[in-house]
Amino acid sequence: MEKLKIAGGYPLKGTVRISGAKNSAVALIPATILAESPVTIDGLPNISDVQILSDLIEEIGGKVNLDNEEINIDPSNIVSMPLPNGKVKKLRASYYLMGAMLGRFKKAVIGLPGGCHLGPRPIDQHIKGFEALGAKITNEQGAIYLRAEELRGARIYLDVVSVGATINIMLAAVRAKGQTIIENAAKEPEIIDVATLLTSMGARIKGAGTDVIRIDGVDYLHGCRHTIIPDRIEAGTYMVIGAAMGEQVLIDNVIPLHLESLIAKFREMGVTVETRNDQILVMGNKNLKAVDVKTLVYPGFPTDLQQPFTSLLTKATGTGMVTDTIYGARFKHIDELRRMNAQIKVEGRSAIVSGPVQLQGAKVKASDLRAGAALIVAGLMAEGVTEITGVDHIDRGYSLLEEKLSGLGATIWREKMTQEEIEQLQNS
Ligand code: EPU
Repeated sequence: MEKLKIAGGYPLKGTVRISGAKNSAVALIPATILAESPVTIDGLPNISDVQILSDLIEEIGGKVNLDNEEINIDPSNIVSMPLPNGKVKKLRASYYLMGAMLGRFKKAVIGLPGGCHLGPRPIDQHIKGFEALGAKITNEQGAIYLRAEELRGARIYLDVVSVGATINIMLAAVRAKGQTIIENAAKEPEIIDVATLLTSMGARIKGAGTDVIRIDGVDYLHGCRHTIIPDRIEAGTYMVIGAAMGEQVLIDNVIPLHLESLIAKFREMGVTVETRNDQILVMGNKNLKAVDVKTLVYPGFPTDLQQPFTSLLTKATGTGMVTDTIYGARFKHIDELRRMNAQIKVEGRSAIVSGPVQLQGAKVKASDLRAGAALIVAGLMAEGVTEITGVDHIDRGYSLLEEKLSGLGATIWREKMTQEEIEQLQNS
């Protein structure tokens, strides 16, 4: 096990290149199962979630060549077999294997997916969609069994706007008979990215990126090449870092439109932001004004940036309230920020941040991916050295983290944890 150390308090400057989107990658890789000839995806992030999914595809018979940012998957020999539980539990997005396997083989067996602990994260809407398409679903000894004689298109209204359910239903529906209509669909850019890949594979999808998606099923999907979209959450995290500590930080390989809600908040706070075609320039400001933020489905403020944004607010003058309407329990980073001298209290679904305070380096623990991002931002802002454990969470989603931050002038490094530290962490 490793820990990250950051010597904070120094201004940052330079250019950071954003990697491909994690939340697209984890859907695009399973989507390749639906094709019957090789698919190449390029621009992938170098993160553990990609590695785990590519191992999973290999275990079910796919021929995989993962080389740096490019993956080539030949899915022709994939067989429908129970998915290995250990790996499935490591990431929540392994639920996309359900939709993809169901779409191709009309059956799938999968353990209950794991992932970040953000409070209850049901998958009832995924199940509702699969059932509407004709699948029978049973829960047997901790595993989900999906079986269908045939999949038939259906009209499905999502009771909750869900990224995962929208994508999963699309995956199952592209090879179903007839037309599927998903109403109250999620509109996140990752959904458009998955629809673009599926369309290149021969699927017929209209309306991805709006709240009504129409899919006309086809019998056969073929291989293609696809370039993934840039990771808007990674970009947003570096923008927050730029606003907190940056003299001038240029975010390269980004789609500014994907980050309009964050840019609007920055302007309200007094951060200078300039957008170009595929770049965003962020200039920090010592006198930030506190603002309130409420997370919403896209194009609202993303829940995945709520935690790093909270770290930034500690530096702003006044009281700012961060309310998470998507995950009401996504506040495990707050106790850790308090250890670093932050003045924050949690009331229900809101964190109330009073500032400005000077954060101090401390030993802290990342309990989920974006909590880790919040602690990295805080570590860069703090005086002294911050030591972050729980690094495996961060490695799930941030590609080449130390290289990118060092490129901006940060002092960040990794150390092996001692046996005693590992035991302390496991007991905490
Ligand atoms: N929900 C249900 N029933 C369902 C599905 C979702 O009640 O069947 C609820 C959830 O509990 C949550 C809300 O609906 O309150 C939205 O959940 P959604 O399904 O949209 O989330 P997800 O697909 O599981 C993805 C991202 C998350 C991101 C959310 C929200 C992936 C792999 N994960 O999760 O990303 O927070 O959308 O935008 O795409 C992260 O990157 O750190 C991360 C957690």
